[in-house]
Amino acid sequence: MKKQQPIVIAIDGTSASGKSTNAKLVARALGFVYVDTGAMYRTLAWYCLQQGVHVEDSRAVARVCRQWKTSLELAEVDGLKCARLLVDGYFPEKEIRTAATSAAVPHVAAVKQVRAWMKRTQRDCARFGNLVMEGRDIGTNVFPETEYKYYLDANINERLRRRAAEGVHENLAARDQRDSQRATAPLMIALGAKVINNSEMTSEQTSGLIIEDVRKRLAAATSQE
Ligand code: DC
Repeated sequence: MKKQQPIVIAIDGTSASGKSTNAKLVARALGFVYVDTGAMYRTLAWYCLQQGVHVEDSRAVARVCRQWKTSLELAEVDGLKCARLLVDGYFPEKEIRTAATSAAVPHVAAVKQVRAWMKRTQRDCARFGNLVMEGRDIGTNVFPETEYKYYLDANINERLRRRAAEGVHENLAARDQRDSQRATAPLMIALGAKVINNSEMTSEQTSGLIIEDVRKRLAAATSQE
């Protein structure tokens, strides 16, 4: 019998468009493994800062990425299965959310060799099973072959409000612009992605749309087998 390929649900979108909240809700509802790819880029940015590597020096960042000692682990956090990247056996959960790491991460995310390394590592997460993977280039670059692609967005004022409610004040427009304009794997809407503008939607409504769509398509695919 042919081995079933894991199903990958790609959730891309702008900063503070609700990717994490919704990706987690979808993963919980379907029993899939949640993967936060932004956390992986943040881990590299944090590690560079730790090592005293200048994040604007792309050759130095690429060298770190070639040499750092990492592994993937499948963890269970509050009942949610998550694939996480460890460096030297450690997941820097708090450290990757600091303002210093947030400021450093777009620089490392723009390095071509870093993106190639991340793509390989993120694809490797499929060994854990069916995935809900959130990021900026999952539907366009990491798993372009998946049929399940969603692109979230919300208007800038609403996104600023959401970040402020989390106690974070940052220039989201500038970060989105850098993510959209970089040469390698820029943020863009994947061909065939369902675009959801959730400015006036709750996360239950947003995730509900995705869950319903995935369930419908899975049922249709099963009935055709
Ligand atoms: O989603 P986040 O804010 O944690 O992402 C951190 C940074 O990493 C953000 O500036 C964009 C970048 N990123 C990326 O370029 N590609 C991804 N797949 C995920 C994140």
